[in-house]
Order: sequence, then C-alpha cells, then structure tokens
Amino acid sequence: MLKKQSKTYPLFWVKSMKRRPIIAGNWKMYKTKDDALAFIYAVNVEVPDKEKVESVICSPAIFLRDLVKREGENLRIGAQNMHYADEGAYTGEISALMLKSYGVDYVVVGHSERRAYFNETDETVNLKLIAAVNQDLTPIVCVGESLEIREAGTTDKVVKKQIEKAYLNVTSENALKTVVAYEPIWAIGTGVTATPEQANDTIIAIRKVLEKLYGKEVSEQIRILYGGSVNVKNVDSLLAMSDIDGALVGGASLDPNSFLTLVRAALKK
Ligand code: 13P
Repeated sequence: MLKKQSKTYPLFWVKSMKRRPIIAGNWKMYKTKDDALAFIYAVNVEVPDKEKVESVICSPAIFLRDLVKREGENLRIGAQNMHYADEGAYTGEISALMLKSYGVDYVVVGHSERRAYFNETDETVNLKLIAAVNQDLTPIVCVGESLEIREAGTTDKVVKKQIEKAYLNVTSENALKTVVAYEPIWAIGTGVTATPEQANDTIIAIRKVLEKLYGKEVSEQIRILYGGSVNVKNVDSLLAMSDIDGALVGGASLDPNSFLTLVRAALKK
C-alpha cells in the first residue's frame, strides 16, 4: 500500500522501505495483578503473527515476571524504565541485566513522565539506551516537545537535540537495535492527538537526524513510533502515514479489545 505523505518525499524511497510495525502498550502505573493476568489471558492467543506486527506490553515492573511467563507466541513484554548500571547500590532500581534475566525484551527509555517527575535527562537516556542494547533489550527511546515549544515553532530543533544526545557514542550497529517513539507532551493523556501530518512531519525530521548520524541505509531501517492519545478511532489515519511505523499507546492499551484493535490495525501497514 502506498503511504500518504505530508511532505515532498522521493517516491522510490517510500516504495522501497519496509519496517515491521510495532504497537507497544505503556500501562504506566495502572492495573492490579489480577487485572494484568486477565489482560494477558485475553490477548496472548489473539495477537497477530509477530513477523507481521510486533505487539508489546510495557508493564509495571512488578508484573513483568508473571506476564513474561504467559506472553505466548506473538506477544512480547517490556519494562517502563531501568537503571543504566548492571548492578550497584541503587535502592529501588532495576537493571537491564535483571530485566533480561527474566525474559523481558523491550524497555521504554526517557518517557516524558520520567523526564518530568523522576529527573530523567538526555544524559541518563543515553546511558540507558547503551545499557539496554548491551543486554539485548530493545530500547524504545522517547522524545517529544512541550506545547510551548510546538507553538514557538522549534519542535524540530528540540527533538533533534534529544535524538543527538540520546545516540551519543552509539554505533550504527547498535542504533539499528533501537526504536524511537515521538511523543509530543501536549498529546499525552490529553485526548488531543497530533494530526497525522504533524506526527509524520516530526518523525521525518527525526529520521533526518538519524540519517545525519548513521546514513540513509540505517535511518531507513529504524522504527519510529508515534505516541500521544492514540486510540481505536485515530490509529488508522496515523498508521497510514509514510514514516509512522507504529504507536506507543497509554490509555487505549489498558483494555484487551482496544489493544487488539490497535495491533490489528497495524497489520494493514
Ligand atoms: P496516552 O496514549 O494515554 O496519551 O499515553 C501516551 C503515552 O505516554 C505512551 O507512552
């Protein structure tokens, strides 16, 4: 299917690229153990073939073990945060090494809520990205601008800096093992979704930064997701865009039917 484009973009490129879509649910600090188990039993046999779409649930750390045990053939489990050290005197923290030892496959890094409330910085995002890749976890690296920045017209500049700092000292081989999530802060949990064009334009700008860092061949292969009030109604129009390779979803990932609708929508990519 030819993807809609919001900017002039060479046609041969659009036709040639094939990045497997990802739908990642970010449960944030929601659900009890019983809720989490009910969810996994409802979805794990229903999610589509993982070769066609990567379906991921990023759960609170306390549920990870139970979910990994029951993830089934096609669902994968991710954490929402990690520490960048493999071990150490960091009370309350969990390392990439520990996550991997429990069979976790993905980890969200640098979510705007962690940047805002838990002192996550571009520097720690960079260290976590490297530590995750070193342990064979796929980091979902979050970037995105505030409403003030969007209104000031400096979004591309701000996300460029976030990407450059996140990927400092990261080789192209390791960059290929990462996923980016563009999540404008003003769209998170607000019900105000970026328009497909807005999201696609910023994602194209992010891919250009990755191209500058790693060249076109690499940047074309890195998946870039959109996040921010994605739901069953708007997912199709977002995923129809040329450079949006999937979604990082908060609220709409909590309900099994809604999550399944989102992953099935990605099959059309
Ligand atoms: P919502 O989908 O609830 O807006 O949350 C987006 C998000 O922050 C995913 O990481």
